[in-house]
Amino acid sequence: MAQRYNFSPDEVQRRAKLSSELKKKLAPLRKAKTEDKKKKPGEGGGKKKEAKAAPKVDLAAVRAAKRDRRHFIGGTLAFSGAMAFTAGGTNRFMFPRILFEPPTKFEAGSIDDFLPGVPHFIKEYKTWIIRTIDGTIYAMSGRCTHLGCTPAFLASEQKFKCPCHGSGFRVSGLNFEGPAPRALERFQISLVSGVIIVDKAKMFLYEKGEWEKPESFLIV
Ligand code: FES
Repeated sequence: MAQRYNFSPDEVQRRAKLSSELKKKLAPLRKAKTEDKKKKPGEGGGKKKEAKAAPKVDLAAVRAAKRDRRHFIGGTLAFSGAMAFTAGGTNRFMFPRILFEPPTKFEAGSIDDFLPGVPHFIKEYKTWIIRTIDGTIYAMSGRCTHLGCTPAFLASEQKFKCPCHGSGFRVSGLNFEGPAPRALERFQISLVSGVIIVDKAKMFLYEKGEWEKPESFLIV
């Protein structure tokens, strides 16, 4: 139990005075202590340990590195593309596309191979060899003068008929029906040791009166 003291009024007054004076003396110390507590760590008065600072990152350096990497990759791709293009061009130079066509001059065959009145088609050269009953031989183009299809010979009608748009040609090569604008061309023809030689590089057109030229036919 708390012990009770009976003091005289004078004694109580004296003790109160001492207590007041003591409070006044201690007031600056308490104030200083309170301010010290309020100080932030790192400002000199704090007791707490300073937080470990995170390492600083140089953002500008990071961006520059990324930019250099992008440039490097872009440059590498561009270089690879250029090399591929160059290689393709080199290949094309080394192995050019060549369209192999048969020579224009060829041996059609022995004259005895061609029967009078029976047109003979040489498929490789798209050329008709025609020997008429009266002894004339000529070489005629197998390419329609409309759009280049190959007319077929119809023996029953004694005419050439184009399967594409219906143009018709006489045995002589003259056009007479359909959209073909002109007669079939004839080629230079010659006879060497009984062999018929045709040269497609030399052409004779009916419209120019060239079928009369001696190189455009043979008489046997
Ligand atoms: S190609 Fe022969 S008629 Fe059209």
